Amino acid sequence: MTNAQDKKVFVKTYGCQMNVYDSERMADALATKGYKPTQQMEEADLVILNTCHIREKAAEKVYSELGRIRKLRDAKREDGKGDMKIGVAGCVAQAEGEEIMRRAPVVDMVFGPQSYHRLPDLLDRTDKGARVVETDFPVEDKFANLPKAKKEVTRKRGVSAFLTVQEGCDKFCTFCVVPYTRGSEVSRNVAQIVAEAERLAEAGVREVTLLGQNVNGYHGEGPDGKAWGLGRLLYRLSEIEGLDRLRYTTSHPRDMDEELLAAHRDLDTLMPYLHLPVQAGSNKILKAMNRQHTYDDYVRLIDVIRNARPDIALSGDFIVGFPGENDEDFEDTMRIVREVTYASAYSFKYSPRPGTPAADMKNQVEAAVASERLYHLQDLLNQQQRDFNASKVGTTMSLLLERKGREEGQLVGKSPWLQAVHVQAPEHMIGEIVTVHIDNIGTNSLFGTRLEERSTIESPILTQSEGVSI
Ligand code: 5AD
Ligand code: SF4
Repeated sequence: MTNAQDKKVFVKTYGCQMNVYDSERMADALATKGYKPTQQMEEADLVILNTCHIREKAAEKVYSELGRIRKLRDAKREDGKGDMKIGVAGCVAQAEGEEIMRRAPVVDMVFGPQSYHRLPDLLDRTDKGARVVETDFPVEDKFANLPKAKKEVTRKRGVSAFLTVQEGCDKFCTFCVVPYTRGSEVSRNVAQIVAEAERLAEAGVREVTLLGQNVNGYHGEGPDGKAWGLGRLLYRLSEIEGLDRLRYTTSHPRDMDEELLAAHRDLDTLMPYLHLPVQAGSNKILKAMNRQHTYDDYVRLIDVIRNARPDIALSGDFIVGFPGENDEDFEDTMRIVREVTYASAYSFKYSPRPGTPAADMKNQVEAAVASERLYHLQDLLNQQQRDFNASKVGTTMSLLLERKGREEGQLVGKSPWLQAVHVQAPEHMIGEIVTVHIDNIGTNSLFGTRLEERSTIESPILTQSEGVSI
């Protein structure tokens, strides 16, 4: 039998950034039981699938992955290399619950996004042979009950970190499962968030992205006992020494309030990048989606945001082929994209989610039509992204150096606008924020030169590197 000290856990994360955050918290909770992370599933004593329910056939994909894992576990047992426990977490676990136990006897634990702080206890129960399902929304505060990661562990995870400040969503867009899988909106209190952000900064993290399914709906209790909005929270976090960059995602257009706009205007630490999904351009479709805003509301809001922070880059989510969408409606989506101009975007074909209102709508759009529309939309969005990247060539910007690049002596950093930028720099500079000149662009990233380094290069080379290469 393996010693409790050298047990290994493999966590496979699907879906959004909040799942990335949750997987790290699970690893923290398991560290108290002696588990260390591994990248090799076959050597793991515990495998956890942290699932996402937003995409089509999410549950089916989890079942087929479980089939593969069962083979690995059986082989491990046969080779006398010990056992492998298997857990399913995240939104598929929340939505399917007992059904997973029934369909996949290989699974030992099923637990939802609100229960992972109970992981050590769940494991103890499986040690006694039980198969456990934990998908309730517990009354205790999950975050307050989670162990804190050691500084070295946090630093090893990188210089840019996620921090969940809000969970759940009360908006009930008619296509979306989130209000059902993650429940209604809950905000963590300010003191707890500030303490976590301070710990991150002390461990060497320079950039924090605040996460929430509807993050700008944040309304956590402040030290004054009043509910604070996201803007106020950002002002407070910007005071933390060492935290040089703040971001937040994902937002709803209805919740961009005055204080948040002021934060974009006033705070140098708040990066000029905003993910603000519009989903569609047609007012008829926006209404059917229950988005609670119109085409004009959104465009006006973008104007206000750009007034507050002229260099802001916008990103969005789009759905094509929502029930009832005709060619004219789709044209409105193309129109709003042309009018707003996005620096990056995610676009999807609508797919029905069981249990959501849109799944029962009559006039579903043919798959071929939706595919055609998605093709056109992505063509336009990709062009806008290339244009945005190209607009940075010849400019200088700050860059947070994050990790080693593929080439020798190269590091990859993140621009204020969330672009990946490659530069020549020694590894010990990871974690530093440097000023770079952007020389040219590749397919998905930019190439730059550190300013100190640039001044030592002879000028003819500089002139040549100013060209744009896609
Ligand atoms: N079909 C297609 N896309 C969806 N999204 C959410 N639900 C669906 C669905 N049923 C997209 C939305 C959302 C993003 C996270 O996923 O664009 O903003
Ligand atoms: Fe889903 Fe976002 Fe709409 Fe909430 S606001 S229901 S998370 S798409």
